[in-house]
Amino acid sequence: MTDASIHFYEPAQGHGLPHDPFNAIVGPRPIGWISSRSSDGSLNLAPYSFFNGFNYTPPIVGFASVGWKDSVENIQATGEFVWNLATRPLAEAMNASSAAVGPEVDEFALAGLTPAASRLVAAPRVAESPVSFECKLTQLIQLQSAAGQPVETWLVLGEVVGVHIALAALDQGIYDPAATHTILRAGGPADYFEIIPETRFKMRRPRTGD
Ligand SMILES: Cc1cc2nc3c(=O)[nH]c(=O)nc-3n(C[C@H](O)[C@H](O)[C@H](O)COP(=O)(O)O)c2cc1C
Repeated sequence: MTDASIHFYEPAQGHGLPHDPFNAIVGPRPIGWISSRSSDGSLNLAPYSFFNGFNYTPPIVGFASVGWKDSVENIQATGEFVWNLATRPLAEAMNASSAAVGPEVDEFALAGLTPAASRLVAAPRVAESPVSFECKLTQLIQLQSAAGQPVETWLVLGEVVGVHIALAALDQGIYDPAATHTILRAGGPADYFEIIPETRFKMRRPRTGD
């Protein structure tokens, strides 16, 4: 493509567009719907779309908190959290759980969700969610700029020590994200995408054959 057909910008100088395209481009992103428990026992639940998986063995997931938020405070204090799958039937509850409320407010109650006891960590999982990962904190990293300046964002990494999968999400033992109607963030500020069977296509890797 020629320069004339490209909008180029340096983020440090501003994007020059009505809405920052960064989030819209880096997508779809899975949603880290994170439940945690404070040191005094209060329950907490919040979505983080700066979320992904980073390792197979042991499985490690991570999310980034832009600012020091209640989830990070709790996870630093207790060393534990749970990731819950956000699905189309749970989208509105997931959104409600993002409300900027004080640490004493239980977002499970706020969003009309049921906390279910985890097996290996004290933080509860979302009972209505078809998949949950019980996690133990492995690293809590403050991000920094290319110039080495600290950024007010923290990356929380955790080892997945327990996995819950609703049997309805397994098709002959293969996990099917279309069966759970998993939702993802991409596009404009209010845009989400849903995984449906029609958008699936298959492609084998070269050489390895897997
Ligand atoms: C779909 C969605 C994705 C979000 N992703 C992030 C994120 O990646 N990082 C972040 O800091 N906040 C994110 N937020 C905002 C937090 O959910 C919000 O600040 C919340 O109040 C934090 O809760 P806590 O203080 O209980 O941890 C997101 C909100 C929504 C609805």
